[in-house]
Amino acid sequence: MQVVRSPQELQEYRAKFQGSVGFVPTMGALHKGHLSLIERSVKENDHTIVSIFVNPTQFLPGEDFEKYPRRYDADKKICELAGVDLLFMPQKEDIYHEDEVLVQAPRQKGYILEGHFRPGHFDGVLRVVNKLFHIVRPTRAYFGKKDAQQLYLIQKMVRDFFWDIGIVPCEIIRDRDGLALSSRNVYLTPQERQKALLISKSLKRGAKLAQSGQRDAQKIKEEMLKILEPLDVEYVEIVDRNFNKIDKVEFGNTIILVAAYVGQTRLIDNIWL
Ligand code: PAJ
Repeated sequence: MQVVRSPQELQEYRAKFQGSVGFVPTMGALHKGHLSLIERSVKENDHTIVSIFVNPTQFLPGEDFEKYPRRYDADKKICELAGVDLLFMPQKEDIYHEDEVLVQAPRQKGYILEGHFRPGHFDGVLRVVNKLFHIVRPTRAYFGKKDAQQLYLIQKMVRDFFWDIGIVPCEIIRDRDGLALSSRNVYLTPQERQKALLISKSLKRGAKLAQSGQRDAQKIKEEMLKILEPLDVEYVEIVDRNFNKIDKVEFGNTIILVAAYVGQTRLIDNIWL
């Protein structure tokens, strides 16, 4: 596995690849969720490129950019063992320039839900992913359903910018007790971790209600909020695959989303129906 820091170096190695190139962008502190994306890319492509970059522009002032876990040595080993060909680990200066031409998140879908509580977050996400796509030129790129709105907006950016890249949505990987894996789970104390289980529990309850005939989104949300009572809930929302809020659950076209604070840690999770 080759580890490179500059976009120029990455492009030199990239140019030597023949066949398909799978790409997995990450912010590192890799866990089994990331690994599932990497393994799928390795399986489906001739070459796999992973990036690790804690992207400053997607963190709002006061968020956890400084304390975000950085585990570069462990991450390198994980990538190497998984069969990654090229690991891209740029620094801020390698990626960003002065007074840039900007990509912006769409004014509507980029500013609801996550974008409402973290205004500007998706501008940063799309800004960096667009750059990474230009540098890496992948055949396919892999994203987790865990960040459902991010996945939707990246699919939208690919359409809006006529990128010739296949976006591959990947299933949410959970711990045995149901907690969705996240780099931010390391912030949780053992007690908080127990409380955090209420998030996946509420989603399972919502899904079960829908499956047993309750299609009314409002009623489902109310039941979920009862379970989430002990947490600081930011939102419980039910949307279609295009992130339009809906009143009635429609199987094959519905996502139930939760964002909540457990202590100081903000967690998100969702379930696709
Ligand atoms: P990061 O949070 O490191 O996540 C990288 C990728 O892993 C994302 O596509 C995310 O959805 C996926 N992922 C995280 N946890 C997962 C889980 N439990 N199961 C399945 N997939 C999971 O998302 C980002 O980084 C950044 O916003 C990025 C796209 C790299 C842009 O900076």
